[in-house]
Amino acid sequence: MNAKQNSQNSKPHIIEERPRILLVDDDQSILEVMKMRLELMGYQVSPFPDPEDAYKAFKKEGGFDLLLTDQKMAGLTGQELMELCLKEDPTLQTIIFTAYGTIEQAVEAVKAGAYSFITKPINHEELTVQIEQAIEKRTLLRKIRYLENFFEEQDSFEGMVGTSPKMKEIFKKIMQIAPTKATVSIYGESGTGKELVARAIHFYSKRAKAPFIAINCAAIPETLLEDELFGHVKGAFTGATASKEGLFTQADKGTLFMDEVGEMSKPMQAKLLRVLETGEVRPVGGEKVRTTDVRLIVATKRDLKEMVDKGEFREDLYYRIHVVPIYMPPLRERKEDILLLTTHFLEKFVSKMEKRIRGIEEDVLDAFNAYDWPGNVRELENIVEYLVAMCPGNVIDISLLENTPLANIKTERSIKPLREAKDEFIKAYLENLFQKTKGNITKAAQEAGYYRADFYKLFKKYGIDPKKYKHASKIIEPKKKAGQPVEGR
Ligand SMILES: Nc1ncnc2c1ncn2[C@@H]1O[C@H](COP(=O)(O)OP(=O)(O)OP(=O)(O)O)[C@@H](O)[C@H]1O
Ligand SMILES: [Mg+2]
Repeated sequence: MNAKQNSQNSKPHIIEERPRILLVDDDQSILEVMKMRLELMGYQVSPFPDPEDAYKAFKKEGGFDLLLTDQKMAGLTGQELMELCLKEDPTLQTIIFTAYGTIEQAVEAVKAGAYSFITKPINHEELTVQIEQAIEKRTLLRKIRYLENFFEEQDSFEGMVGTSPKMKEIFKKIMQIAPTKATVSIYGESGTGKELVARAIHFYSKRAKAPFIAINCAAIPETLLEDELFGHVKGAFTGATASKEGLFTQADKGTLFMDEVGEMSKPMQAKLLRVLETGEVRPVGGEKVRTTDVRLIVATKRDLKEMVDKGEFREDLYYRIHVVPIYMPPLRERKEDILLLTTHFLEKFVSKMEKRIRGIEEDVLDAFNAYDWPGNVRELENIVEYLVAMCPGNVIDISLLENTPLANIKTERSIKPLREAKDEFIKAYLENLFQKTKGNITKAAQEAGYYRADFYKLFKKYGIDPKKYKHASKIIEPKKKAGQPVEGR
């Protein structure tokens, strides 16, 4: 039951260096003393008596974490210097030194984006704390930026592939929650990849070296489920000739994945709740309890909230497990992923079956795109496996779909190359979006699931002028549902 470690992709990492401080004060003696102190604290310091020179160095060298600057100087004020630098690097943190007479200005500087200000004469203990906090904030901001870029470029993650904005959001969420101990509940139709997400969370967490154990609550009769989860002591029941460890104990320090958690009986729900509340497990027939440190991830196809409302699922347990929900979108809502998934599975099965298949014909992909995929990614995977197995030549063609649920799919067979058809679709999509939002770029970007800056690039690329839609009132139905995101890149 233990999982293999999925480590196809290298994890994102940030190389940490000694933090760099740009130190600016027109009082040469302060500058020297401060430089020495900061270097003793382990920082790299670039001191400047002249704010304009400091700015030139900032622009040329880049990579400063913190600007420590006097407010009142000849030439630029501390705030002006900060504002110039922030244009170059919005993650820069600034601490401003100020005399009592200029506190108001310092408050203004904080409003304009400074981390904090410190009044002169400088209390060095206070400064030390402020510097550490400001640098921590900057490191965090950089990490967030880094991860955002990482996922913009990354189409696969711990064995999962996906290029749609919806999947990229899921990759990001996995990264965010993996290091915590929070219970995760994964909702989604069958075959959407719930178990894959659970595994990714485990392998991205500090628990990666401990076991990941999966159990399907629907596949096991109730009496056995209790035995599986909590174990039993010798003699607990007829036939219990030896004691048995339950999965909660086996998964100690690791992750327990409970699939189909909605299928558990009410008494089992109560028993699970007790374990979650106390962190203690009592084996069947046993007196002694054992503590266990398990991260729980649950999955279900069902709407647990609705089950709670109908009295089918315990409300207290629901709130215990519904801590961090993840909703897996069905494949039909992220058709941009079909091409990538198809290629992924094609590679997998061609190499597994040692076939000489060069590729797949475009009309097969058209059929894939037109189909609804009720069985989601699993169904796609199975179909590709079938096609690879059945393919007599070196190209998978439409005739092979004959005995599959895709046999009668009507596709608008276009003679155009896929890229051209895709461009046409995106252009029509964008036009409709701007019609709907009356040219409002922020709203349109939100609906498309894009960052504003990226969205800007996208519609520029397609030569669209949002201003033209300012007074639009007629909404033309897009080919896809409005709001459905277009391909990520
Ligand atoms: N994004 C993806 N990339 C690659 N393979 C995927 C992806 N999503 C799902 N799969 C594959 O599809 C199959 C089904 O995935 P998984 O078992 O995680 O789905 P599930 O939601 O747990 O389904 P069920 O509800 O039936 O248990 C697996 O073989 C899995 O490897
Ligand atoms: Mg599953």
